[in-house]
Amino acid sequence: MKLFVATHNAHKLREISEILPEAEVVGDNPSGIEENAPDFAGNALIKVRAIAARHPGEWCMADDSGLEVAALGGAPGVHSARYAGEPTDYAANNALLLKNLAGKTDRTANFTCAVALVAPDGREKVFTGKVFGTIRHELKGQGGFGYDPLFVPEGYDKSFAELPAGAKNAISHRGRALGQVKEFIHAGIA
Ligand code: IMP
Repeated sequence: MKLFVATHNAHKLREISEILPEAEVVGDNPSGIEENAPDFAGNALIKVRAIAARHPGEWCMADDSGLEVAALGGAPGVHSARYAGEPTDYAANNALLLKNLAGKTDRTANFTCAVALVAPDGREKVFTGKVFGTIRHELKGQGGFGYDPLFVPEGYDKSFAELPAGAKNAISHRGRALGQVKEFIHAGIA
């Protein structure tokens, strides 16, 4: 089966292919839209509807995700990609996060991922996955992307960027949301 995914982020496409190896994942950038919803689910729906209009009768998917830090009132949240401004700069985002957390004792955080799916018959579904952890005081690891070098998942002493891709996918917000997508797709095509 083909699965059109509304992203231009090569890291995300690779993670999605790893988690859903049975799908032929095709990236389709939903250009010219505004991701202005107040939550991840709303933004994922905006993105998936934009590409579903171009691929009627096909499986289409979009994810919207970000980091929510307790001591920062849930920031960067839906602004995770552009926390330090446009264009997205992972190093600047991580530097700003560390600056804003300086002196805070509560370093708990979670990643959230909402995946919106449009089935070939037009049905819409949203699945949400979360992973909880803490924010390190300095960057560590070379893998992953975004805030991965700063995020240590609960029960681990390594950052997401230090874990092998398979280990991250098994517990990540995106992995958990996509696990539900996988079940839904299988039920739909069985
Ligand atoms: P989106 O592309 O609008 O979903 O923005 C997601 C942003 O949240 C990314 O640019 C990253 O900064 C951050 N993010 C989401 N998922 C992850 C992850 O798995 N690791 C690290 N950062 C992530």
